[in-house]
Amino acid sequence: MDNFSFYSPTEFVFGKDTENDCGRYVIKHGGKRVLLHFGGGSAVKSGLLGRVKKSLEDCGIFYTELGGVKPNPRDSKVYEGIELCKKENLDFILSVGGGSVIDSAKAIAAGVCYDGDFWDFYCGKAAIKAALPVATILTIAAAGSEGSGDSVITKEDGMEKRGAGSDLLRPRFSILNPELTFTLPPYQTACGATDIMAHVFERYFTNTKEVEITDRLCEAVLMTMVKETPRVIADPENYEARANIMWAGTVAHTNIVGVGRSQDWNSHGIEHELSGMYDVAHGAGLAVIMPAWMEFVYKHDVMRFAQMAVRVFGCQMNFENPEATALEGIKRFRRFLHDIGMPINFKELGAREEDIPTLARNMGIKDKTWGFVRLSEEDVRAIYTIAAKAEL
Ligand code: NZQ
Ligand code: ZN
Repeated sequence: MDNFSFYSPTEFVFGKDTENDCGRYVIKHGGKRVLLHFGGGSAVKSGLLGRVKKSLEDCGIFYTELGGVKPNPRDSKVYEGIELCKKENLDFILSVGGGSVIDSAKAIAAGVCYDGDFWDFYCGKAAIKAALPVATILTIAAAGSEGSGDSVITKEDGMEKRGAGSDLLRPRFSILNPELTFTLPPYQTACGATDIMAHVFERYFTNTKEVEITDRLCEAVLMTMVKETPRVIADPENYEARANIMWAGTVAHTNIVGVGRSQDWNSHGIEHELSGMYDVAHGAGLAVIMPAWMEFVYKHDVMRFAQMAVRVFGCQMNFENPEATALEGIKRFRRFLHDIGMPINFKELGAREEDIPTLARNMGIKDKTWGFVRLSEEDVRAIYTIAAKAEL
């Protein structure tokens, strides 16, 4: 196991009706003047936003609203938020929504405390040195942004999607009420489930030896997702299944399942080009990319893929031919994604094969990149090509 430092300062408040207490948590974490940040309307329609405002008002907290965050959140909304925070002298950002709203909140939080252009953090020109405190009320189990220090923003000019990270962006508190996810359409639920599984796989496929504890934690999250996702798709108001998925989503991305081991993250990099270019859901892009990446790299460590196949997808170990077991595991993963309603190739996703050279170039791999298997631009093109043509 590698040396590590694990910092997860977020207070997670889990369970029914917990959002009604958000005002108290804002005060506890030092907020006095709040930016209330939300998305395209689901939180308004469900009545959640009304309950949040009431809680803030009952606690005497000043707030200003900024809604309209789009999935794959844009830089223009971030600039708007930074201006608003400065104008109103706001000192705390409460995001109500999914990864997109939370990531937009994090970008605003860092941008307010920076004299330059906030995009500097996302294009690698500057590191985040200060940020306003951020908190979340989560409405979709997916990105894991409620517990992570990461934020992913899309620059409208060119639809370039890039990430930035700092422990300063880790939320002060996150309210997780599984009931808030009852209203999710099945497609969004499935996108979220795919993202959660991808966050674990990015950590599971490691070159670090003998990391049994994190292997087993990863497998627990993956097996939970395999069991619970079909249940919530069939029965969206199944509280226990939603609860298991919601906590799995947070556990998958605080990095508790990834400490002490090398990680990959190339599937995410490859996917971000797709959701940037076509404005598709991140989870849907991952459903197309992740199995293709697996098919491209499995020979690097056949036994690890066979282990995943046996432990997560219940395949029989073929001791004479472990490669067959490894491939069977990947096949079952792709079948699972298809069965929960995810696209499995470019056509189903709405991507174009002729864009592959541009997508691979835009990812910006100069030489070889990091990861379980180091990839060149040519390798990335090959992965996109497998993904484009994939069948069950
Ligand atoms: O905007 P509203 O109306 O709320 O609609 C949203 C949106 O259309 C809807 N939705 C959310 N909760 C709902 C709901 N609809 C009905 N009922 C509810 N309870 O779902 C749609 C998707 O929301 P979004 O926030 O985009 O989803 P997600 O949480 O998957 O976030 C995706 C973004 O997170 C980034 C992705 O790249 C993508 O931009 N990621 C962020 C990470 C991080 N910060 O750590 C890591 C991830 O790997 C990921 O890259
Ligand atoms: Zn993700």
